[in-house]
Amino acid sequence: MQSNKELQLLVEKAKRFSKDGKVADYIPALGKEDGNDLAITIYKTDNSYFHAGNFEKKFTLQSISKVLSLALVLMDRGEDYVFQKVGMEPTGDPFNSIAKLETLKPSKPLNPMINAGALAVTNMIKGKDLTEKWERLIQFVRALANDQQITYNEEVARSEFETAHLNRALCFFMKQNNIIEGDVESLIDLYTKQCAIEMNCYDLARIGAVFALNGFDPDSGERLIPEHIVRICKTFMVTCGMYNASGEFAIKVGVPAKSGVSGGIFAVVPNRYGIGIFGPALDEKGNSIAGLKLLEMLANEFEFSIF
Ligand code: DON
Repeated sequence: MQSNKELQLLVEKAKRFSKDGKVADYIPALGKEDGNDLAITIYKTDNSYFHAGNFEKKFTLQSISKVLSLALVLMDRGEDYVFQKVGMEPTGDPFNSIAKLETLKPSKPLNPMINAGALAVTNMIKGKDLTEKWERLIQFVRALANDQQITYNEEVARSEFETAHLNRALCFFMKQNNIIEGDVESLIDLYTKQCAIEMNCYDLARIGAVFALNGFDPDSGERLIPEHIVRICKTFMVTCGMYNASGEFAIKVGVPAKSGVSGGIFAVVPNRYGIGIFGPALDEKGNSIAGLKLLEMLANEFEFSIF
């Protein structure tokens, strides 16, 4: 990548695919986005970056936040504790499926990237109450992005809180099976705030650079996440990050990545780049349709694949 202009040309090409996608509206406040938007920041590990599209526009992380809460909880509790309650296997099912919780014995969510697993992970964030758990999570995200202004979008959080009946069902099922403990409404409150954490492509790409550097801050050189935890997160991103499209994505792009229903994609090219993309028109599996095309083009042109 040599210039913003070169990146802009790829964005224009990828944007054409937006018309085949649809903005998510099962969380009503997300339905307001313009399906034609496409923006990207590529943050290099030497602290330079390229942008294209409306890269300053903020969007909510949705499922991308699952990678960040997982990193925090692994730091809080250690691997043994976390993986007693959440598995390590891809599902091949949609992100919000309840099916395998009932059919697998003992009942535990298959991985931390599906909603059931992510709810169980958020339930493990340390803190004496909801406020302390939230503060610890948002401070961690702010440190990763090096941006103290990052917060959550109240309208999107409220909109999801009011409509998250399936996520509540997943929680009650897991509570019955001793995977989660405590008050379900408080957990849904924390989870919907987590999903509504809002930032732009630059912030997300900057967090990606921390992962590309195996946990080091690209500016200060400070270690923010232990290396073995970054490795676990990146592995889940490869095997489960794009849900039931993860296999195809591994073949076509070949880097750790995580999508969200807002249209965000968080991608990490190890030792090279952190990438933040926003393109709210989604394909039928809930991934940004133009964002995927853009990553495919970049991966071909700049040999991203780790495989
Ligand atoms: O739990 C939910 O349904 C949303 N807050 C997050 C889902 C999501 O982003 C799935 N990603 N593609």
